[in-house]
Amino acid sequence: MERTLVLLKPDCVQRRLAGRIIGRFEEKGLNLIALKLMRVTPELAKRHYAEHVQKGWYPELEGFITASPIVALVVEGPEAIRVVREMVGATNGLKAAPGTIRGDFGTSQQMNLVHASDGPEAAKREIEIFFTPAELCEYAPTLRQWMHGG
Ligand code: CDP
Ligand code: MG
Repeated sequence: MERTLVLLKPDCVQRRLAGRIIGRFEEKGLNLIALKLMRVTPELAKRHYAEHVQKGWYPELEGFITASPIVALVVEGPEAIRVVREMVGATNGLKAAPGTIRGDFGTSQQMNLVHASDGPEAAKREIEIFFTPAELCEYAPTLRQWMHGG
């Protein structure tokens, strides 16, 4: 089992797509482990996007991600990090494949609706940035045997 961090970015919340996009993760059979509506501060944005802070487009990204509330969630499932990245699709909504979240709802490189951790190290680091251990609600999903067998 893996856990990954998902952020529903300000464009997602403002466009009233949060429920539909959370629904896609539920339909896929992933467990919701943590979920909150919150405002990203500039300090939090710099921590989360540490790898991008030096890039020319970072100030615009920070302006976007802090402009309006986001929904942060942790989802869990077998190979969840890769599965969620593939569900989210390529960065630019104009290039993301149809059937992916960005491909179905996005037309922008920056306002691409969703963030998802890109590997195990990023998932661990990013979950710790957004949630305390007490906010992660572990439970045994009753449908497991019907979704994964065993
Ligand atoms: O989110 P993802 O891992 O697909 O892309 P990234 O290359 O790690 O970039 C992080 C985020 O920065 C993207 O999701 C976009 O919202 C934003 N971005 C941007 O504003 N301008 C770019 N030229 C590239 C990315
Ligand atoms: Mg990235």
